[in-house]
Amino acid sequence: MKVAFFNTKPYEQKSFEAQLKDSDHEFTFFEAKLDKETAKLAEGHDAVCSFVNDYLTPLVLKRLKNYGIENIALRCAGFNQVNLQTAKELGIRVCRVPAYSPEAVAEHAMALILALSRKTHKAFNRVRENNFSLVGLTGFNLHGKTVGVIGTGGIGRAFIRLAQGFGCKVLAYDLYPNSDLEATGVKYQPLQEVLDQSDIVSLHCPLTPETHHLINKQSLSTMKDGVTIINTSRGGLINTKDAIMGLKQKKIGFLGIDVYEQEENIFFQNLSEEILLDEQIARLMSFPNVIITGHQAFLTQEALAEITRVTLFNLDQMEKGGVLDNEVKV
Ligand code: NAI
Repeated sequence: MKVAFFNTKPYEQKSFEAQLKDSDHEFTFFEAKLDKETAKLAEGHDAVCSFVNDYLTPLVLKRLKNYGIENIALRCAGFNQVNLQTAKELGIRVCRVPAYSPEAVAEHAMALILALSRKTHKAFNRVRENNFSLVGLTGFNLHGKTVGVIGTGGIGRAFIRLAQGFGCKVLAYDLYPNSDLEATGVKYQPLQEVLDQSDIVSLHCPLTPETHHLINKQSLSTMKDGVTIINTSRGGLINTKDAIMGLKQKKIGFLGIDVYEQEENIFFQNLSEEILLDEQIARLMSFPNVIITGHQAFLTQEALAEITRVTLFNLDQMEKGGVLDNEVKV
């Protein structure tokens, strides 16, 4: 198939080109993000390959359909950026890469916790300036802490294994509790109970109408003072305004986020020469106890190779027609 690859980053192109040698698909790599204007670049192709910040709105989907696109291969796990109802009505099939490396994301969540708990980000800067003072660098042990995991799918489970390795007690909330995890000592409880009893909360559920802003003023109010909150899932899980208030009031002791509610106009680009207009992220960056990474939790060599392999597999299946193993539907 002729595939229009949107939002190309050099690390992805390299990974796809390495595996394309053994594939019949022909790729055109476009730097542009997919939107209502750039959709026309897809003309003459059979399929579109897009990423997490390419918003497949009804208008974009209609335009793609007019240009003859009936197959969309998402090179990510999340699909909340796609209007699946419109895709269905237009007869556009959508595939994703469900689990390319749960460990990559889980390890990044743990890296955020470790950096925050041991203030590595501050220590790194100090030492570079010959400041070897330890004052203000007192951290906390993970051993013995209670970690609350919201969403125990692939990533949540990988994260739980890491937390257990550190000697943490794990509480969890999921719509579908996992008995194998329970057998390892994980205790499922109602959402607010997990939030209230945890020293560290790590979010690993998808963004849905039910999970939107699950960390908010109200849910925060009964959580432990000084709680650590980690979000490597989707920005919309946290009400940013309420999180900023929680940080100011010291309800939130540490915040580590790899995703941000308004990330679509900020992340995945070099804005170092620009004036940052987003007041909320600017405020978040001003806290010494907040670490923000720009949606990089997935970004390991192993994960990129697996994203590429599964995307090519999805395109093979789309070309053949019939059942698609990784189709997402309403
Ligand atoms: P998964 O589909 O394996 O697991 C999601 C889990 O969340 C399931 O067990 C499901 O039952 C549970 N869940 C669904 N609705 C829920 C609700 N209302 N409350 C509690 N639990 C609920 O997904 P996976 O692979 O573990 O990914 C989790 C999320 O991580 C994705 O939705 C995606 O948003 C995010 N992600 C972030 C990446 C990054 O680079 N930062 C990379 C990959 C995924």
